[in-house]
Amino acid sequence: MRLPLEDNFTDVIGKAQRGLKLGDAELAARAEVSLADLAAVKAGRPIDAVIRRIARHLQLSPGALEDLAHRRWYPQAPGFPHGFAMFNTAYEDMTVNSYLVWDARTRAAAVFDTGASADTLLDIVRVEELRVGALFLTHTHEDHIADLARLAAATGAEVWASEREPAGHPGARTFPENAHFHVGAIAIKTLLTSGHSPGLTTFYVTGLSYPLAIVGDALFAGSMGGSAGHHAEQRRNVAEKIFTLPRDTVLACGHGPLTSVGQEKQHNPFFAR
Ligand SMILES: [Fe+2]
Repeated sequence: MRLPLEDNFTDVIGKAQRGLKLGDAELAARAEVSLADLAAVKAGRPIDAVIRRIARHLQLSPGALEDLAHRRWYPQAPGFPHGFAMFNTAYEDMTVNSYLVWDARTRAAAVFDTGASADTLLDIVRVEELRVGALFLTHTHEDHIADLARLAAATGAEVWASEREPAGHPGARTFPENAHFHVGAIAIKTLLTSGHSPGLTTFYVTGLSYPLAIVGDALFAGSMGGSAGHHAEQRRNVAEKIFTLPRDTVLACGHGPLTSVGQEKQHNPFFAR
């Protein structure tokens, strides 16, 4: 299964413009490109000279943005930890990811977000004979919690979300940043990576064969979570709290394919240098 990237290069340009509050006329003037050329690029024509000029004014890596525009980059599948499963379900006109992590010896498990439907996830829980003790929410936007009531009822698991996030579920328990949880021999640490939403949390999971970070909509392969009002905060949190994790950390994003810290540092237009 090769999931499309969450954002193409025109989406990235749009996110950067909204985040920096930089309209077309001002961007064209600053980058010294014509409005017509800017419009052509934003309509999907990969004109390198224009892309390189605007990238700098959008605080994007020109090379990474060009690679995205020419579809020269797609993340290599990172080393896949045992005791980890990814689910991708259709929600309206997009798809959303949810994840399951378990300790192979004790069968203790945790779920991260619900997807549009938790059917396949619940199948794996049954087949693998897992006990889901906790249901963690990266954030409470509707697409990430769409099947929460059913999933909570089916597993009897406690629902957990950041204390800074609007309530997504009656009876949900809340955690502060840098909280620790254990699922069998697996350790989970909560990193506050807000911006896209006020309590957006990255769950850093250790004890599997690869370090794993479930990042919600903080970051996507080749892009980042949108936030017109908190763009700088989101960038800073990704740089300081996700990109400081080990290079081989698997990044499990809220939308799009899996990637890794090392690959995003090199290829994500918002962060590559
Ligand atoms: Fe979201």
